[in-house]
Amino acid sequence: VDLRPYNTLGVSARARYFTNVRIQPQLQAAMRWAIENDQPWLLLGGGSNLVLAGDVPGLVIRLEMSGKRVVHEDDEHVWVRAQAGENWHELVRWTLEQGWSGLENLSLIPGTAGAAPVQNVGAYGVEVRDVLQQVLVLDALDFGLKHLSVEECRFDYRDSLFKREPGRRVILSIDLRLRKRPQLQLEYGPIRAELERRGISEPTPLDISDAVIAIRQSKLPDPAVLSNAGSFFKNPVIAAGQAAELKQRYPEMVQYPLADGQVKLAAGWLIEQAGWKGKCVGDACVHQQQALVLVNHGAASGADVLALAAQIREDIAGRYGVNLEIEPVVIDAE
Ligand code: EPU
Repeated sequence: VDLRPYNTLGVSARARYFTNVRIQPQLQAAMRWAIENDQPWLLLGGGSNLVLAGDVPGLVIRLEMSGKRVVHEDDEHVWVRAQAGENWHELVRWTLEQGWSGLENLSLIPGTAGAAPVQNVGAYGVEVRDVLQQVLVLDALDFGLKHLSVEECRFDYRDSLFKREPGRRVILSIDLRLRKRPQLQLEYGPIRAELERRGISEPTPLDISDAVIAIRQSKLPDPAVLSNAGSFFKNPVIAAGQAAELKQRYPEMVQYPLADGQVKLAAGWLIEQAGWKGKCVGDACVHQQQALVLVNHGAASGADVLALAAQIREDIAGRYGVNLEIEPVVIDAE
């Protein structure tokens, strides 16, 4: 099977074996088959945070379990359970239409509900860990079902237990704790600017969702139109001393001081300033509107994208002494 339709970066890569699962027994059967036949497996949701470096060994399992429902509620909150294969953005909009808030800032993120905790998706001041209550996983070690609390998921910026130990725990469903009375997160300047532009002074969660959608559409390429895997690098965190030195050399440099004294830099700013916007290796290019995103103009391979990324990393390390970490999951070739 060619995995091109199953990764938003749109690279061709063959999967030795492929199956899609809609119900838990199918998943268990697929995993048992892989174990008996000594094949590794790769879990796939929407394939939107993935770089396939070449042909994939073993069995690709595409998780397509669907369904969403309220599992509990009180005066303040409602707990929604979404199966892993639910489309994230459709889930977000559905909760907002019910009048529940919490997911509005996370609108239009590509991918599935089950994949959201893997990289702890985040945007505009909110991360999925802020709204997540627990996840239900199937543990491949003993085929047991376990609920993992937010603490047990070991979340960090674009990171989690699931990303650090790929394949071991399959996320079957996620429970989100949403609010009946909204508590809005409006810290991110561009959201406030977009609301102002729309003449909205007392935004509802749906207004924020609409503003987020507009901002994302103006900067981030729609994978259905121009293949990409979102931000290709994490925003790097550096020591305060180094940040101060860089600020002297580059007074315009975007820097965000963190609570622990370290400083987060905008990787997109570094890459743009280094002159990479629009640069390509083959069909793999740095996006014109957002230098943090690498796009595939059609025929790029995973290796082309990784070659471009390597050149950018080397250049940024040389110029600024800053190490850029690749953000999506890279699957090595067979
Ligand atoms: N910037 C530039 N040039 C660029 C891109 C950005 O100068 O080409 C500057 C911007 O002007 C701004 C700063 O860098 O001052 C930050 O840019 P932006 O707000 O667009 O966000 P980002 O840091 O580039 C991160 C996330 C995005 C998320 C946005 C909004 C990471 C790796 N990326 O991007 O997440 O949508 O913030 O919260 O943290 C993703 O992970 O795939 C993703 C799209």
